[in-house]
Amino acid sequence: MSTLETLYEQLGEERIAILVDKFYDLVFQHPQISHLFKTDKELIKEKQRLFLTQFLGGPPLYSQRYGHPQLRARHMPHPIGQEDAVAWLSCMAKAIGALDADEKVKDDLFKRFVPTAMFMVNQEDGMSE
Ligand code: HEM
Repeated sequence: MSTLETLYEQLGEERIAILVDKFYDLVFQHPQISHLFKTDKELIKEKQRLFLTQFLGGPPLYSQRYGHPQLRARHMPHPIGQEDAVAWLSCMAKAIGALDADEKVKDDLFKRFVPTAMFMVNQEDGMSE
């Protein structure tokens, strides 16, 4: 039965908010990628909460507020190498690991991020300093 539910439904809004909160706390202190984040932490958390709601199958809150996500284009001003994507994913893995949720749901959730994170890579490693 649960396989018919979206990850948004399986997690629920509250856990998505907890995930985003924990994730950016990790990102903002990560030695490899923290320097990339220059805006207000609360604003990026709010944008990501809206984005993940729709990315995981919930209502299109991000698009309603900010227009088409065009994630790759929106990341172009930020030099992102493969090592940065790996660091981003490691923060996400930790944040997911801390969630109080079914292991299968956590596994499915992490897998959703891998191709998108790799797609954001727009620089050769070593050029992103
Ligand atoms: C691959 C590693 C990634 C890095 C290093 C990265 C880095 C960044 C940075 C630096 C920003 C701008 C933050 C600011 O305004 O200061 C940003 C924005 C954002 N990122 Fe990422 N990102 C990555 C992957 C992803 C992935 C996989 C997703 C979605 C699953 C994502 C979703 C977003 C969203 C929704 C925004 C806000 C866009 C906006 O409205 O301005 N990012 N990211």
